[in-house]
Amino acid sequence: MANDAPVYTTSNGAPVSEPYAAQRSGINGPLLLQDFHHIDLLAHFDRERIPERVVHAKGTGAHGYFEVTHDLSDITDQSLLKQVGKKVRATVRFSTVGGESGSADTARDPRGFAIKLKTDEGNWDWVFNNTPVFFIRDPAKFPHFIHTQKRHPQSHLKDADMFWDYLSQNPESIHQIMILFSDRGTPDGYHRQHGYSGHTYKWTKKDGSFVYTQVHIRADGGFKTLDDATASRLAGEDPEYGIKELFEAIQSGKFPSWTVYVQTMTPEQAEKFRYNVLDLTKVWPHKEFPLRPIGKLVLNENPENYFAEIEQAAFSPSHTVPYIEASADPVLQSRLFSYPDTHRHRLGVNYQQLPVNAPIVPINNFQRAGAATYISQGSRPNYQSSLQPLTYAGKPATLEGGKRDEERIKRHEAFIGGAWRDLSEITELDFEQPRAMWSKVWNDEQRQAYVNNVSKHFGNVKSAEVKARQLSVWAAVDQSLSDRIAEKIGAPKVAPLKAKPVDDHWKYRANLGFQVPQA
Ligand code: HEM
Repeated sequence: MANDAPVYTTSNGAPVSEPYAAQRSGINGPLLLQDFHHIDLLAHFDRERIPERVVHAKGTGAHGYFEVTHDLSDITDQSLLKQVGKKVRATVRFSTVGGESGSADTARDPRGFAIKLKTDEGNWDWVFNNTPVFFIRDPAKFPHFIHTQKRHPQSHLKDADMFWDYLSQNPESIHQIMILFSDRGTPDGYHRQHGYSGHTYKWTKKDGSFVYTQVHIRADGGFKTLDDATASRLAGEDPEYGIKELFEAIQSGKFPSWTVYVQTMTPEQAEKFRYNVLDLTKVWPHKEFPLRPIGKLVLNENPENYFAEIEQAAFSPSHTVPYIEASADPVLQSRLFSYPDTHRHRLGVNYQQLPVNAPIVPINNFQRAGAATYISQGSRPNYQSSLQPLTYAGKPATLEGGKRDEERIKRHEAFIGGAWRDLSEITELDFEQPRAMWSKVWNDEQRQAYVNNVSKHFGNVKSAEVKARQLSVWAAVDQSLSDRIAEKIGAPKVAPLKAKPVDDHWKYRANLGFQVPQA
């Protein structure tokens, strides 16, 4: 045995000299509670399983890279897509959909094709399938549809009646059913197949313009399929066929690769398009919307540890990067919620901190603690402090002006209209009711009590900047209120903060089509 072989230890790192014996009292006596090695071993073993994915439980994966081969700056300001030659690390997981984690790789089923790209602007996940369309276009149907492919509640058997009962009641599924029951429904392994976003996305630019997009990932060796008889035979003889084929291809240096393309459609084209651009059961004809090359995807690295690097991988269409946005496709919108939600259940609230999921860029935010926190954000307070602030997309976080990135606000408003601004902006309206309380509701005695009470606490503030800023808030309510507190704590008097004038606010709301209240 090599002298430098690793030393066997308990989980706290203590070397163990006798791994195969539990401590016991005498020759035939009971076990000893003091035997941490034994308890450590059993207790960890008891907790080895985590929930399998509710769909796409069976799968495999590998690492590699995505390389940008064409400049896309005419349609998006996403920085990666402007850097021809740039390579980012990619982790890919392939899967079947309906079966449990022990089911056969050659089952008739769509295949998942999930990709995590670690970009300089955060992780960009492509959570795609191997078919360009899907069974549903209304997300409320998804759990029903999936349940029809799982086991019957009573018999615990897969049940063809449930499956076809659902499909026959929901005929928008027919396009996908045509594909699924052709030989495309039994691909030859996981890596000899194409991938499709299926959904329409929006790729945007700084000026607010956008194009609708659909991404296609085409296997360089072509889409290879199995006939039904071969797929059924392999399901019995070699149920891990797909896992094995991918692992061995990479192991022997035959790295699977794909060419990535995008189809684009302008909003004007979308209006004239025969189908709803958000309908996931339709494809965009290639003649009308040709495939435009973007880059290359290559898998050249098997995981060292499957559980850590693939089972714990957590993909989500909501893990996106600037200038790449979800369209209003309701199925996609539902998925934005569902994936992080299931990851918190399957992997825990800090799933993004697991090495396979952690972005390559530093994380700076106000999320703290929770089970298994191990990325520290140091001593910075966990709220947006004015003393140790985070910047917003590189813009300084000052209270007045420059607080947020105006250009991003514009894009944000395209989604939610005025609601964001209406609730976040400080206007003169915000001070009317506090002013009435101070000047009309309270008597002198109540006013004095307020000044005394608040000064006792506020007087403890050390930062002159914080003191001045809060005094400017009181001054916006009433200058005398602010001055009295300032005097009480021995601070300089300050002018009121500048809130947005009410008239501007009404104009802004009227532009959005709201009724403006009469004065
Ligand atoms: C996996 C939900 C539609 C592709 C999953 C998972 C959930 C889910 C809960 C398990 C994730 C995990 O545990 O890590 C949904 C919902 C859908 C929907 C609610 C519709 C309302 C789709 C569509 C596609 C898709 C349309 C493809 C275009 C995938 C892939 C995985 C997956 C590739 C496996 C990811 C992996 O390998 O970890 N889905 N899904 N899903 N879904 Fe969906």
